[in-house]
Order: sequence, then structure tokens, then C-alpha cells
Amino acid sequence: MRLKNKITIITGAASGFGKGIAKKFTEEGARIIMVDINSRLLKNTSKNLNQDYFIADVSKSSSFKSLSGYVYKKYKTVDIIINNAGITHKPKPMEKVTEEEFDKVLNVNAKSVYYCGKFIIPRMKKQKKGSIIFTSSTAGFNGFPYRSPYSASKWAIHGFMKTLAMEAGPFGIRANAIAPGCVEGARIDAVIEREAAKKKTTSDIIREAYKSGTSLKTFVNAEDIAAMALFLASDQALRISGQVIAVDGHTENPDPKI
Ligand SMILES: NC(=O)c1ccc[n+]([C@@H]2O[C@H](COP(=O)([O-])OP(=O)(O)OC[C@H]3O[C@@H](n4cnc5c(N)ncnc54)[C@H](O)[C@@H]3O)[C@@H](O)[C@H]2O)c1
Repeated sequence: MRLKNKITIITGAASGFGKGIAKKFTEEGARIIMVDINSRLLKNTSKNLNQDYFIADVSKSSSFKSLSGYVYKKYKTVDIIINNAGITHKPKPMEKVTEEEFDKVLNVNAKSVYYCGKFIIPRMKKQKKGSIIFTSSTAGFNGFPYRSPYSASKWAIHGFMKTLAMEAGPFGIRANAIAPGCVEGARIDAVIEREAAKKKTTSDIIREAYKSGTSLKTFVNAEDIAAMALFLASDQALRISGQVIAVDGHTENPDPKI
């Protein structure tokens, strides 16, 4: 049990990577406060894992403030925070992105990490220990055509994470980011189907083209991300901070053309 009794906040925990990380951390003995905006899904997922939950919109200052109050009152400490909640938007050229779309993506993906810094880090500094992990994306160092707000939000996370590692490192706090590449599942399947129809070719051809952009010719999955989160949160990574670790099969070409 590498995380026995470690008090862990995971945002965006009701589905996808957050849920996968919560499952892995539960197996390793962590006591988790699962956070999500989707109350129905969150209640279900946390019940299945027998973990605590807190319904919150991480893009709102008041939500993060209440979350911090709730967790410190009940648990007195926080050992690990996984800032994982994130959204994307309809793909489109940057000149077509509306201000509302831009603000929404930046608020959920990037402003939320500022709120984490504002409402949780000061208490963590007093504890003189902690590990903070951000779910980023390879779009945060490669760019991502037709997803400019999303890519910008992930670059912002890296800047925040690096700075946090410097400011909070002297207090024994580590900050790192995981950058997943192209992820297996229903979402990428739908993207592939759409692209195949548009280009009048087969899904298999598009899928192979996507995979060909990585050295390992692969997509990644939620277990790959959970395994990296576990490593970064555990004492095995005690000397690792300020890093963006890609879990992506090594992206050679972020925009393979078919
Ligand atoms: N799936 C991918 O292809 C992929 C690739 C790289 C990076 N990522 C990143 O991984 C993270 C998790 O993505 P995922 O694929 O698991 O997505 P997902 O949609 O399956 O899960 C995201 C969760 O965040 C929650 N959420 C959304 N907005 C919220 C808000 N304002 N407040 C609280 N919770 C909110 C959703 O309800 C959902 O449960 C995101 O930061 C995403 O950008 C995903």
C-alpha cells in the first residue's frame, strides 16, 4: 500500500482519468475526496469506491474555497492533490473561437489551478509536505490545431506548475504534470469516425495514421495515467518536482496528415 491513509483530493473524479486515478489510489490505501461538477456520476463513482465526495465547479473561486474548508475541517491535512478536471471545445480555427468558448475552457482548465494555489497551497505550506499533480496534455507543449483554447490552457498549467514547484519546494511541496497523448476510448473513436467520413476513407486508416505519429505506434489508456499519478504521488518520486511527464508513446508528429 504505497498511499496508506494519504488524504487525497482528486478533481474531475467522476469519470475518465480522474475515476481511474481514484480507483488506483483506493487500491493503494488513500483516503480520497472525489470532486466533480456532475453530482449524479460523482455520487455513484464515490459510492462504488467507498470514498468521500464533494460536488464543486472548480472554475469558481467559491467552490474551491468551500472545498478547502470542508477538507481541512474534516481531515486536518491534505497530502496529495490531483488537479485533473478539464474540458475541451468544438474543434475550429482560432479566428472562429468565441470569447465565451475561450473563457470557459481557460476558466475550467487553468483558472482552477490558480484557485487551488490560492485556497489549498497556503495550508499545505504550513504542513511542510505535499504532492500536487496536474493532468495536462501533449497539447501543452506541441500545440493542437483547431483546439487553440485547450492548448493554451494546458501551456498555462505548465507555467503554473513550474512556478509552484519553485515557490512551494522550500516547504517540502512537489508539483508535477502528466501529459497524456491520444487516449483510447469512445471519444477518439467518434473523432476517427468523423474524420474517416470527411476524408472518404476507413476508420482503420485514420486510426493507424494517428498512431503513426508516436514512436510506440500506440494510444494510451486511463490505467497508464493512473500508474504515472501513483508514481508521482508516492515516495518513489520524492526528489521529482517541476516536471511535465508525457505518457503518450512519445509523440513524434502531433498532427499526422492522412
Ligand atoms: N481524454 C483525452 O483524450 C485527454 C488527453 C489528454 C489530456 N486529457 C486531460 O485529462 C483530464 C481528464 O480528462 P478525461 O478524458 O478523463 O475527461 P472526462 O470528461 O472523462 O472527465 C472529466 C471530468 O471532469 C469533470 N468536470 C468538468 N468540468 C468540471 C468543473 N468545472 N468542475 C468540476 N469538475 C468538472 C467532468 O464532469 C468529468 O467527470 C482533463 O484535464 C483533460 O484535458 C484528456
